[in-house]
Amino acid sequence: MSTPTRAVINLDVTGPTISRHLYGHFAEHLGACIYGGFFVGADSDIPNVRGMRTDVVEALKAIDIPNLRWPGGCFADEYHWRDGVGPVEQRPTVVNTHWGNVVEDNSFGTHEFMDLVDQLGCEPYICGNVGSGTVREMADWVEYLTRSGEAPMSELRRANGRDEPWQVKYWGIGNESWGCGGNMRAEYYADLARQYSTYCREHDGNQLYKIAGGANVDDYHWTETLMKTLGDLGCGCNPRHFFDAISLHYYTMPTGFEDKLSATEFDDATYYLTMAAAWRIDELLTRHGNVMDVYDPAKRIGLVLDEWGTWFAVEPGTNPGFLYQQNTMRDALVASVHFDSFHRHADRLVMANIAQTVNVLQAMLLTDGDTLIKTPTYHVFEMNKGHHDADLLPLNWTGQALPTRTVGNREIALVSASASTKNGTAMVSLTNLDLEAAHLVTLDLRGHRVTGITGRILTAGAVNAHNTADQPDIVAPQPFDVPAVTDGTLTVDLPAHSFVTLELTLG
Ligand code: AHR
Repeated sequence: MSTPTRAVINLDVTGPTISRHLYGHFAEHLGACIYGGFFVGADSDIPNVRGMRTDVVEALKAIDIPNLRWPGGCFADEYHWRDGVGPVEQRPTVVNTHWGNVVEDNSFGTHEFMDLVDQLGCEPYICGNVGSGTVREMADWVEYLTRSGEAPMSELRRANGRDEPWQVKYWGIGNESWGCGGNMRAEYYADLARQYSTYCREHDGNQLYKIAGGANVDDYHWTETLMKTLGDLGCGCNPRHFFDAISLHYYTMPTGFEDKLSATEFDDATYYLTMAAAWRIDELLTRHGNVMDVYDPAKRIGLVLDEWGTWFAVEPGTNPGFLYQQNTMRDALVASVHFDSFHRHADRLVMANIAQTVNVLQAMLLTDGDTLIKTPTYHVFEMNKGHHDADLLPLNWTGQALPTRTVGNREIALVSASASTKNGTAMVSLTNLDLEAAHLVTLDLRGHRVTGITGRILTAGAVNAHNTADQPDIVAPQPFDVPAVTDGTLTVDLPAHSFVTLELTLG
């Protein structure tokens, strides 16, 4: 048996709060995410409430979904919101040029989205169109959504059946403006973002949290340009600054964008390349954060990772433009490594949105007719719920070095962990990425007595195991036997390719 790696956790010394919004979601008009995924229409035989699939809504409520980003993605920068309001039969059709060239009938629009987030009990995060829209169009959308009284847009909303304005906080100013959102240079976009932001007004006390479209992966120049362009952070006037946050996109692609491999059939080398790509998020959050620190040491501007997750080849026989991929135990481990990193960066990272919630990329849920499949990634979100709005417990590795593996020119740790506390409890998440070996981790728990402990584990016989309509629970959480805490320490034996959560009751 290997020598345990030791982690000290001071249960009474807390770090920043881990926002529940780090467990956020993203739904684009792409493939079967909206149509067939979330929305089947009120006349469907699939149980629904005003067209929203009941099973999907219930499954997402069970993981306490905190927010949903919509309508894209690339689609956001060719979406004209007026196409999606008013009587459904009169709404125009448009071509979704990014995703499969299919005809979009606009039957799911603003009112439907706001109904969906209401049914989910989560916050809307709307991404406005900078790439092919206008300043006025975006300003009108904000007014339509959030203004009461007698005003042109509030009256239009009323004519479309909604009297009261909605509350909308999270507002994106374009998406991937360096690419599908307009192929702009950082300097040009930064000025445009100031301009658009100026006219996104705060109506009737609705406070917008404006998120500027941020960098792709390691484009630190983009982040720096936006930080330089923010406006005066300290003046206390309105607006104090032009945006409240900057986004970042990073996808886990083990063999690159041009050479995507199967989501379910992969060899050991590709598995470890995937894990090295997942670990890279830690470097990216650190380095973008460092750039932001130069201009904003008080960390008033948030970093929003509003697209992340695995991007593999589509399932054989499916439309390449629909980005439908299966989801295995490998995806679950990618997610758990990301969450540990998110927790460590909770002082700057205020939101993250996995791409995408249903039937697209690293999905929580896959639909197959009227069947709903919860993916291994879904289970990681569910098992980690205890971290929502909890205070980080910094975890210090000490003594025996962490097991590592060299992957290309990177040395990656094979064990990852994070911890948090709230309401007299603590949660520890532990991941073993090793394909073959179990690893022992000793937790040195200081500062509180532990009066109770329960554990759960997510693992599978093979790391490419996945859930299907015929076998929906091949990868599902199971109880995990945890030994007693003795003299404040606890040694956990983590099986190969597994994710474990421990819930501690503190005395
Ligand atoms: O999530 C799929 C696509 O990935 C999004 O539309 C785009 O923003 C990103 O390139």
